[in-house]
Amino acid sequence: MQKALTYAADHADQQVSELLEWLRIPSVSADSNHAGDVKKAAEWLAKNLRDIGMAHVEIMPTPGHPVVYAEHIRDAQLPTVLVYGHYDVQPPDPLELWDSPPFEPVIKDGLIYARGSCDDKGQAFMHVKAAEAWIKGEGQLPLNLKFIIEGEEEVGSVHLSQFLEANKQKLAADIVVISDTSLFAEDVPSITYGLRGLAYVEVELTGPNRDLHSGVYGGGVHNPLNELCRLITNLHDADHRVTLPGFYDAVRHLSDEERAGFASLPFDEAGWKAEVDVAETRTEAGYTLLEGITARPTLDLNGIWGGYQGEGAKTVLPAKAGAKISCRLVPDQQPDDVAEMLRKYFEENTPSTMKLRFTALHGGHAAMVDIHHPAMQAASKAMEGVYGRKPVFTREGGSIPIVADFKNILGLNTVLMGFGLDSDAIHSPNEKYGIDRFHKGIEASVRFMEAFANR
Ligand code: BES
Ligand code: ZN
Repeated sequence: MQKALTYAADHADQQVSELLEWLRIPSVSADSNHAGDVKKAAEWLAKNLRDIGMAHVEIMPTPGHPVVYAEHIRDAQLPTVLVYGHYDVQPPDPLELWDSPPFEPVIKDGLIYARGSCDDKGQAFMHVKAAEAWIKGEGQLPLNLKFIIEGEEEVGSVHLSQFLEANKQKLAADIVVISDTSLFAEDVPSITYGLRGLAYVEVELTGPNRDLHSGVYGGGVHNPLNELCRLITNLHDADHRVTLPGFYDAVRHLSDEERAGFASLPFDEAGWKAEVDVAETRTEAGYTLLEGITARPTLDLNGIWGGYQGEGAKTVLPAKAGAKISCRLVPDQQPDDVAEMLRKYFEENTPSTMKLRFTALHGGHAAMVDIHHPAMQAASKAMEGVYGRKPVFTREGGSIPIVADFKNILGLNTVLMGFGLDSDAIHSPNEKYGIDRFHKGIEASVRFMEAFANR
């Protein structure tokens, strides 16, 4: 392995300049105007995978954006690692809040500022460069390696379950490895063993046939925006618990052992508050902040509209009001069931004075991975090799819905070995990724391959 590590260290600058090139391609999956760029980003990656010596590389079409697939089979007797990542990125809006253009990466104080630098081009690319280090530095990989890097993660991986179903044989492996999560803290190596799921819905209430003068009609009609606010406010109680009937029924109980594990983590609550500039936190009663943001289910408005939004005052009663609502889920909540609970709630509580339109937009299952799987020990050893101390095991609040499908469709466990930080501002303006973490991630991947090959 020493030669692979040396090769990786000797090519540190080149790894960064290649990543910057990839980051210049605006692969925004949600925006159809960028479909050509999404394709370009897939082609760029496929070329890089060919250049590093992966034996077989192909761009596989889906009904949406393509999957980049690569494999290098050294010996059928050796274990196989399947690396998953995504080359699509979130829309960069609001553009005016970026200090530099989102697709013209700049390096400042050791951080790469660009959309996708952390989520997930920068992290997915670490494994590509680790494979290169083995192939070019050592002369060969220590095991069999496959890559499945998709272009639709940020829009809910809409076609990927189908893709797994259709390519079971091709994707056969012993473990999935993903770097698309965060470190517990900059100097605290960690491995993630749980992710939350998601149920995302949209509601719209329509009252009168048009916006009305609030003086002429106010006092005579039922205001959809007032009603929508009431319906949404009633979804939480004073303890910040969700009141939606049935919401907690399937929630798996947090064991005392797990809660003790949470309590033992070096969680910097003051730093967390400072980072988002809030003086007080708000968590479901009876749970710590860390539990609230990683291991308990939530319900939140993501957007609400209706009426006049422009400058100054306009006296108007809106004819329509709408909202987008997301629920973060934990095992064993079912995304479809939660969406149905919301549908039922709005159907039963919308006043007879207005019409309801309800749409379940998308969802994903929570995931828990087996911390006793041999791959976890290999990941732990790899992290210890890089950081000089053992990693902690953590749960995270974000979602990677395909992790549950890897288990259910391919029967595979996943190792979540991410190098992001909450402060990297993924999905926000000025997304960034630390160059040192990028290089540590490459080293961790090199070391993981060795440790898993020798497991
Ligand atoms: N990389 C994130 C997920 C993530 C972020 C996990 C931080 C853990 C810590 C991923 O790209 C993402 O944003 N996922 C979406 C999924 C959704 C579109 C189904 C999410 O969590 O909102
Ligand atoms: Zn991501």
